[in-house]
Amino acid sequence: MTHYNSAHDDYGTDAEDSVSAATTDTDTGANATTEAETEANAEAEATTPDTNATEHAARIETQAIHAGQSPDRDTGAVMPPIYANSTYVQDAPGEDRGYEYSRTGNPTRTALEDNLAALEGGAHGRAFASGMAAINTVLNLLEAGDHVIAGDDVYGGTYRLFREVYEDYDLSFSFVDTTDTGTVEAAVRPETALIWVETPTNPLMQINDIAALADLAHDADALCAVDNTFATPYLQRPLAFGADIVSHSLTKYLGGHSDVVGGALVTDNDALDEQLGFYQNSVGATPDPFTCFLVLRGTKTLPVRMDRHTANAQTLAERLAAHPAVEQVYYPGLANHPSHDLAAEQMDAFGGMLSFELDATLDQTSTFVSETTVFALAESLGGVESLIEQPATMTHASIPRDERLAAGLTDGLVRASVGTEHVNDLWADLEAALDAALA
Ligand SMILES: Cc1ncc(COP(=O)(O)O)c(C=O)c1O
Repeated sequence: MTHYNSAHDDYGTDAEDSVSAATTDTDTGANATTEAETEANAEAEATTPDTNATEHAARIETQAIHAGQSPDRDTGAVMPPIYANSTYVQDAPGEDRGYEYSRTGNPTRTALEDNLAALEGGAHGRAFASGMAAINTVLNLLEAGDHVIAGDDVYGGTYRLFREVYEDYDLSFSFVDTTDTGTVEAAVRPETALIWVETPTNPLMQINDIAALADLAHDADALCAVDNTFATPYLQRPLAFGADIVSHSLTKYLGGHSDVVGGALVTDNDALDEQLGFYQNSVGATPDPFTCFLVLRGTKTLPVRMDRHTANAQTLAERLAAHPAVEQVYYPGLANHPSHDLAAEQMDAFGGMLSFELDATLDQTSTFVSETTVFALAESLGGVESLIEQPATMTHASIPRDERLAAGLTDGLVRASVGTEHVNDLWADLEAALDAALA
């Protein structure tokens, strides 16, 4: 593969700097400040109430709404229009106005890509037709003979892509416990070209140390990519910890309403982005403009949704931990989570996903997840509505039972994507279902 590490040292990790670059076209005036003004603003910030957000370099709540978007030049439409066209007029042969064909680029997609780049604190965003299409594009960077290290509990679709597609293209994969940096270090080979990280992991909510894994990757002249789907950039920005690429399933929290499928990659590395853009265009797994519009609508409310998801999940995790039918709760916001301190360091809050183990049989647990009425029995995650599932019979059913148990995915394990409903309604739903299943 082409190695990109030399460029890595050249870019900063300050989210707000990069974001300003990504929002230079907005009408808010937020980026019209000089360096001196920015410093003055920062000083004033400490003492002055924040009455006018446009006077400051944008914070993530403001970026979520404005980055990458400006009122339409022709009509003043406040929201970016859905540019539902495949081709663009050229003023002379080879002289386009920035767009020539919508697989290659589309203004609604550009707005989304710039918005996502800003949220992750990166210089470049690329949107894809699904999270898997985004992950596939990272694998496109590799060459036959390359070796990849990934967590042993990565998303099943990622595992399938690596094992069942790319092993046939002469890439090799080691799936190891990425919570243990020593284990990862021991797995590094001369041909290691990528370390693939998820944090928090699914469904046991383990936390991986992004900075340590990125350092290991760079020492090996390899890339570090982080799937940030569970945390979202509102809670965790992997580029700031040294990751080279951030990957997303937009289908989850960024879309936020269970009505789109999409994916994204963000990087700060120009050379890497050029390569990703080449594969994005060559493979063509790009999202349509309506999908981009919907995700942009979703990202505007990401901060307020994540605040509620997180508050609800924390409350439910605490109540579940005190319930006699619950043996174990996996939520990084609980003080007894084995990586609570690391999570507190690299995340701004602990997110809306949790799992817990019931003192129950496979059948009792199936009954429990079938009895909830506010929590919908469904796979996927990240929408405003709460979802519940039983990994043993649903998301992880394809893993042989012995292997599943060895990985900690017991018959009594339940995973919940905690939505934004009233927390007491969610708790009442869980309590009633527990009573019904375990009576
Ligand atoms: C962590 C994670 N990454 C990637 C994906 C794949 O995303 P998509 O379903 O949008 O292709 C998923 C899907 O569940 C996921 O949970």
